[in-house]
Amino acid sequence: MKKTALILAAGQGTRMKSKTPKVLHEICGKPMLSCVIDAAAAAGIHENIVVVGHGEGAIRKAFSDAGVKFAKQEHQLGTGHAVMMAKNHLPEEGLVLVLCGDTPLITEETLERFMAFHERENNCVSVLTARMEDPFGYGRIVRDDDGGVARIVEEKDADEEIKEIDEINSGIYCFEAGFLKKSLDKLTNNNAQQEYYITQLIEIARAEGEKIGARIISRNEEIMGVNNRAQLAEAAALMRDRINRDHMLEGVTFIDPKSTYIDLEVKIGPDTVIGPGVILKGKTVIGQDCEIGQNCRIVDSVIGNGVTIQSSTILESTVGDETTIGPYAYLRPHAHLGRRVKIGDFVEVKNANIGDGSKASHLAYIGDADVGKDVNIGCGVVFVNYDGINKYRSVVEDDAFIGSNSNLIAPVHVEQQGYVAAGTTISRDVPEGSLVVGRVKERVIPTWGARKYNQKKEKKNAK
Ligand code: UD1
Ligand code: CA
Repeated sequence: MKKTALILAAGQGTRMKSKTPKVLHEICGKPMLSCVIDAAAAAGIHENIVVVGHGEGAIRKAFSDAGVKFAKQEHQLGTGHAVMMAKNHLPEEGLVLVLCGDTPLITEETLERFMAFHERENNCVSVLTARMEDPFGYGRIVRDDDGGVARIVEEKDADEEIKEIDEINSGIYCFEAGFLKKSLDKLTNNNAQQEYYITQLIEIARAEGEKIGARIISRNEEIMGVNNRAQLAEAAALMRDRINRDHMLEGVTFIDPKSTYIDLEVKIGPDTVIGPGVILKGKTVIGQDCEIGQNCRIVDSVIGNGVTIQSSTILESTVGDETTIGPYAYLRPHAHLGRRVKIGDFVEVKNANIGDGSKASHLAYIGDADVGKDVNIGCGVVFVNYDGINKYRSVVEDDAFIGSNSNLIAPVHVEQQGYVAAGTTISRDVPEGSLVVGRVKERVIPTWGARKYNQKKEKKNAK
């Protein structure tokens, strides 16, 4: 059966108090609308139609490659009106699953089961419901004496008796496409909010003797709608719990899952240990047997197996197997480290390749460089890559040694086994196997220090 999803996302989301349209706000690195679209796609939806209104341009732009169709609702005259605006996109037959763009916690599993229920029961309309301790604000499910769904009544239209009902409408429905399409013209807006309610379709179906079903969800969090930033944080926390739990069940150790922030698309290999305060974002991939120590932030990077990283920041970079990084290292975009590399404390690497077995153990800047294998970069080495106008690249070949506190003024080329003596500034190439020393020869001035010391003491005694 053809399955189409219709996702309502035209509302303003006033309570977010944001320039960004509500459904573009992110949960664990993904816009809420993506969470919904992805769940629908995973559940076997063939086509997604998104109804947009407020923030239309931004939403269309963000989803231009997502393969979804858009329908425009200029004025938000209600959920039923939103569906009317998509009428031309709706299929003639099959199933239409209606979702909201602001319920990011809905799962593939729940949607799959709900659609299977709709098909199995041969329903014309199915509604996903929930029992809530506090049903305030939701539409209530009014059942008839036989337990069938009679209608849905909004909070604002409800009398005291109906307000007592604890079964609520999730806002998620399945419709037989033909029925949905032909019934939209019958919607009216004579209710407390003078809106066209999608829920009126239940009464219409009932009047026509069509089969209506309801399925009660067990995990209420899945239908949680996000209307403000407090709910955004709440939904994100629930999503994080899920993400972290999934990783733990796949063999990843978390020292403190509550303080670990991992985006939805991140992958982590088994037997890796994730410390507290770690943030893994975007399309990051971490291998197995790694130790990602406390307070690391890793964004859009690929980390190999057996890598140890302590308290460091890594952006858009790659790290080979068994390399160690940090504490307090900073890998900026396009740092590519080989295997068994060591990048120690306060080392910054940017747009540079560093070959297997090379080391920069402390306090160095390696920018715009190609560094070979088994190179030693001493403490305080600076790759001087910028002349104030342009950036230049340097090359350091295999087995070279760059002594502490040296400056490599780019572009320079240090050939294999070249040595740069500590404290040397080079602006010319270093030939293979040679040593370059560029220091001022030191002089020794006897007793100078002793005299200075005595002067100081006299001054102190005079006070
Ligand atoms: C709706 C349901 C209510 C249900 C609740 C679940 C109706 C009449 N009521 O109420 O029974 O319990 O959802 O959360 O359907 N939207 C549009 N265009 C509009 C109006 C809304 O696209 O003109 C979109 C919103 O962006 C949102 C969704 O539809 O994604 C739901 O709208 P909202 O105003 O939140 O509906 P509720 O009043 O909460
Ligand atoms: Ca709502």
